[in-house]
Amino acid sequence: MGNNAGFTNKTVWITGASSGIGKELAHQFAAQGARVVLSARRADVLETVRASLAGGVERHWVVPLDLEDADRLMESATKALLDIGPVDILVNNGGISQRGLFLETDFSVYRRIMDVNYLGTVALTKVVLPDMVERGTGSVVCISSVAGKVGSKLRTGYSGSKFAVVGFMDCLRAEVSSQGVQCLTVCPGFINTDIAKNALDANGNAQQINEASIEEGLTAGECCQQIIAAIEQGKDEIVVGKGISGLAPTIKRFFPGLYNTLAARREHR
Ligand SMILES: NC(=O)c1ccc[n+]([C@@H]2O[C@H](COP(=O)([O-])OP(=O)(O)OC[C@H]3O[C@@H](n4cnc5c(N)ncnc54)[C@H](OP(=O)(O)O)[C@@H]3O)[C@@H](O)[C@H]2O)c1
Repeated sequence: MGNNAGFTNKTVWITGASSGIGKELAHQFAAQGARVVLSARRADVLETVRASLAGGVERHWVVPLDLEDADRLMESATKALLDIGPVDILVNNGGISQRGLFLETDFSVYRRIMDVNYLGTVALTKVVLPDMVERGTGSVVCISSVAGKVGSKLRTGYSGSKFAVVGFMDCLRAEVSSQGVQCLTVCPGFINTDIAKNALDANGNAQQINEASIEEGLTAGECCQQIIAAIEQGKDEIVVGKGISGLAPTIKRFFPGLYNTLAARREHR
């Protein structure tokens, strides 16, 4: 972690800032002197977050966005950028998970998860990145998942969208890292947020229940400290998780047969 003034007057745009990891990131960045742009769908919740950030309300912005509607998002983000000015760090964090077997899940759920987790990320990056490249500095951070590295039951749509984010970031890094832009992919394991409650069931409804694996995971605070440290260290990719959720990508990489057997056996929630 940097000192308390590590991000003084840096502008950090965070999606999914109304809850969980995004909200905690907003607090940690603001406490280190950053000006934060808060995005998600719920404008009223974002205003409450803004009012609670260090540095005073007037230093921070609320830009309501729906990641599911990439065209409108690009339009409103482009307008907002005129007011905000140069963005130093973009954190594509907003997202939605899934708990449903492939054979039971409606196709609309796949489209929605891909729109929110993948195309929403691509769209906002389209708006924010050109100025970073022009200035030769900046960081694009995408919150993928351990599910973007390994598969498990009930998450065919979610894992697909998070693998897509990993691939997008690998390609983007190849294109822009030599132009001064860091591309950091974050793959969290189980983190104690509302992600499971908000996860879509086979019919596209939020399942509205929490899960022990999530409740026993890292706190959002611990997760965000690791994300901020990785930005400061100029890293390309990190896995953030404890226990099996942190180890899974390594097991899959070196022992893919073992991983596949374990994934098929485990009643994964
Ligand atoms: N918690 C974990 O165990 C875990 C593990 C791996 C990866 N992740 C990833 O971490 C990221 C943050 O999740 P979290 O754990 O903090 O979950 P969370 O508490 O459910 O927060 C999700 C955030 O995404 C926003 N969001 C959802 N749909 C949106 C949409 N259509 N447009 C704009 N914003 C939208 C929500 O805001 P609104 O409802 O106000 O729009 C909320 O702020 C996600 O990408 C998730 O996949 C989490």
